[in-house]
Order: sequence, then structure tokens, then C-alpha cells
Amino acid sequence: GKNGYPFYMEKEIMEQPEAIRNTIKDRIVNGLPDFTSDGVPDSLFTDCDRICVVACGTAMHAGLVAQALVKSIVHVQMDVELASEFMYSDPVIDEKTLVIAVSQSGETIDTLEALKYAKRQGAKCLSVINVKGSSIARESDYVLYTAAGPEIAVASTKAYTTQLSVFYLVVAKMALLRGVYTEEQTKSFIAELERVPEVMQKVLEKRRDIHVIAKKILEAKDLFMIGRGLDYSILLEGSLKLKEVSYIHSEAYASGELKHGPIALITTNTPVVATVTQEKLMSKELSNIKEVKSRGADIVLFIKEALSGDLDTEYQVIKLPDMQDEFMVLPASVALQLLAYYVSSDKGFDVDKPRNLAKVVTVE
Ligand code: F6R
Repeated sequence: GKNGYPFYMEKEIMEQPEAIRNTIKDRIVNGLPDFTSDGVPDSLFTDCDRICVVACGTAMHAGLVAQALVKSIVHVQMDVELASEFMYSDPVIDEKTLVIAVSQSGETIDTLEALKYAKRQGAKCLSVINVKGSSIARESDYVLYTAAGPEIAVASTKAYTTQLSVFYLVVAKMALLRGVYTEEQTKSFIAELERVPEVMQKVLEKRRDIHVIAKKILEAKDLFMIGRGLDYSILLEGSLKLKEVSYIHSEAYASGELKHGPIALITTNTPVVATVTQEKLMSKELSNIKEVKSRGADIVLFIKEALSGDLDTEYQVIKLPDMQDEFMVLPASVALQLLAYYVSSDKGFDVDKPRNLAKVVTVE
């Protein structure tokens, strides 16, 4: 059941600290990432010269975060392909490509077909799946299961953040095996990952503040989400979540792209949600936020606490508890999920069953 919550989506958002704990606990041995119990050999991560994620929707968005981390930390080429486009895009894959399929249900037909195609081309196939024994899991050479437990709400929440936590383990493993991280550095990266559940809990405790902000965007027709780098990656997911459960037209843009077209859509009182969690991007992000503010936008800002020194008081601000920048996607995602949830429930929608959508998509 819903455990006293009005909707599964809220229950599943609240379950995330536990879901992440369950997903990482058996994969950390002596402070280091360990996939022995999954039967995944180290060679899988060292014998590839390229990685390609195939997935749909939210699972694809988890791949985008992984891509940013793999490129910046491990310096290995990684692509993220929409599963539905993959086999028609003449993908460059061979025996040296590690293809990673990401799927909550393990039954999404596009992802399954993309994986089968990759196998035929000789790629090694790993999948990150929530449902044990599902079709994609059975087709894969190796599986890393997320331990999110059953996800009932159509809008994916805990599946996404547990997929991310698996990718943090993979990044740590690759960095160590490829000599990018020392054992010491790997341990400190993993120690930060182990802090995620308690940090997420702090975000969940701020849910009333997020609810207050949600009430201000209930009437919005169009909304924009802006950020750079990892902030942009998570806003793509935040925007998908908002549009699917609240039916508000929402678009995520890389902030630097605004001036090349979309800023024409910003008028008085257009809601703009921004995240600022990466120190190296902060000054450019804040100046892009100022630009839309000066066009009349109403700014909702989710900002890493340590970066929130002197801010424009005209913004509606939610401070996110501090983690190392690479990990801020996790607390930020929870905040964006809560925002979408409250907008939908306050509008009186059936949050768990958005119109036109199904939990498992078995048609191409
Ligand atoms: C959005 C959502 C969908 C799924 C997508 C893939 O909240 O849930 O975008 O992420 O349909 O589903 P799986 O992960 O089951 O392959």
C-alpha cells in the first residue's frame, strides 16, 4: 500500500534514502566499489575504449549524468543514445564498446531492441535494471540491479536516483582501475556517496518550503528550467517530471543557449526554475539568471548552500545541503521531484497515473 501517503509518488520520493542505501551497501567492500557479488568482472570496465548508454525517458536522463561524470572524471568517451533512435542512427559500435542499457522495468521494447542490436554488432552489454529477471536483464551479459523496490507511480523517482547511485559506483570503479584515482581518492569518493542518504533526508525535511514554491506556479502555462553542465542534465529530468505529472509545458535549456532563441519566450511572470550547484559554473549561471530576471521572469532558485552567499532577494530560494559538486545532482533531483509532485497534487490530478502514460512501454 501507500503507507499512509496520498500517492505512491510521494511515498517513493520519501523512500529514496533507504533505496540508495540498499543499492550501494553490498557493493562497497573496505571502502571501495566491488561488483563481485554481481558477477561483473573488472575487465568489463578496462577492455572498452568507448561506452554507450541506451535508454528512454528518465533512465536516459540518468545516463546523461553518468556521461558527464565519466567524461570529466574517467576521461573515457561516452555517448547517450535514445533507445528508439539507436539502431536507425548507424551507431559506431564494436567489440571495444561497452553498451549500458538502463531501465527501471527491464521491459521497455525500444531499450530491449537497442540492446539486441548492440549485441549483434559484438558490443559487450551491461544493464542497470530494477526488476529482477526482466527481459532486458535476461538479454544482457551482465546486470547491476538497483534496489529501489517496486516503483508503482508512473513518474519515475527512486528508480532514477538508484540508477545514479549505481553509476557513481561504476565511475569510482573505472577511475580506480584505470589509474585516474588512487585507492585513497576512490575511498573518499565512495565515502561521499555513502553520505547521500542522510543528505537526501535533509532535502526531504525541506518539503514544506518546496510546497510553498509549488503553489506559486500552479497557474503557469509555460515554464523554463535553466542551468549548465550537471545542472542542465538534472533539469532535463526535472522538466520531464513536471510536465508529465502537472501538464505544465516545461522546457529545460542549457543557460548559455538562451540568447540563441528561447529567451524570446521569457516575459513578465514567466516562471524560471534554475539550479546552481557547481562552483565552476556558478558565476555564468547567475548572470544568465539575471538576464531572464531583467525580462520579468519569476525565478525559483535551487542553490547549493555553500554557494548561496550573496543572492538577489527577489528570487525564491531553496538552499540545498552541501555535498561535493559531483554529488549535488542527488539532493537537487529530490527537490525537483518534490516540486513536480506538489504542483500535480495541488492541482488535484491523479499524480500516480498521468493521462496518456503507461508504466511500461511495450510498443515501439
Ligand atoms: C518518466 C518515466 C519514463 C521512463 C521510460 C523508461 O517518469 O518514468 O520516462 O523512464 O519510459 O522506462 P524504463 O526505465 O522502465 O525502461
